[in-house]
Amino acid sequence: MPATMEISFTKLGGHMAMAVAGVDLSQPPSADLGARLRQALWDNQVLCIRGQTIGPGAYLAAISAFGEPQVRPEIPHVEGFPEVTTLSSEDRDLKGDGKRLVAGANWHSDDTFMPRPSALTALYGLIVPDVGGDTQYANMYAAYEALPEEKRRYLDTLKVVHTMKPAREGLGRTRSIAPEILAARPPSTHPLVRTHPETGRKALYISRNRMDHIVGMDRAEGHALIDELVEHAIQPQFTYRHKWQQGDIVIWDNRCLMHKANGDYPDGARRFMQRIIVAGEVPV
Ligand code: OGA
Ligand code: MN
Repeated sequence: MPATMEISFTKLGGHMAMAVAGVDLSQPPSADLGARLRQALWDNQVLCIRGQTIGPGAYLAAISAFGEPQVRPEIPHVEGFPEVTTLSSEDRDLKGDGKRLVAGANWHSDDTFMPRPSALTALYGLIVPDVGGDTQYANMYAAYEALPEEKRRYLDTLKVVHTMKPAREGLGRTRSIAPEILAARPPSTHPLVRTHPETGRKALYISRNRMDHIVGMDRAEGHALIDELVEHAIQPQFTYRHKWQQGDIVIWDNRCLMHKANGDYPDGARRFMQRIIVAGEVPV
């Protein structure tokens, strides 16, 4: 990268999401650049690094500037790089019915059923469709802050049991999960409102299809409350819709966002992403 290459930041959504151009991640970011990118992520919740053409080793090294990459053995990965998993328009569900699998088509936060869910997720768009396949984000700080104070104080007291097994019927297709993997992932209990360890801000912590029940509440009543909060959080003033450009690396913060995949690109159109998740902490 020429020393004169200028780094420029451009706001993508009205209240969240930042794009950065002029960064070449074929070499690991310097300590100074790493710090700038992390700060941009904490300030904007979604960071899009434009125009990359890098291999899995460089991608892994770059994401390591944000935290420790994790392995998820049940997702296909790039040969020789177990941390670099793949999402493809060619993916098909275990059910074997030949239908396209769109992982993450419901509003969610990644891996909330884990005791320490991943803090960040990175997706690298190697092949992106011309039309469709956007990723949507909801800012859960903003959604929380917009609630009346009395409601916030009540929500602050609630805990939720999360399971890998889908908690709801009829929320659309999800990846079928092998029984031995489900058995190895016991439920986790997390607060409904969590405090972000970097920013100190509170955010709603919601992943609808993984939230089995709210502790001490009737299951249906808890689901109704969660549905109400999801509907509140996905209003346009809290959301951003990312239209992918080839070469984008988008990093998002699962601790203060929900996100959603869209499988609305035409049959035959291709979409291929490399994904890395970054270790998180016990939500508090
Ligand atoms: C994910 C996810 C969204 C997308 O990788 O966790 O939800 O648009 N992806 O592919
Ligand atoms: Mn996801």
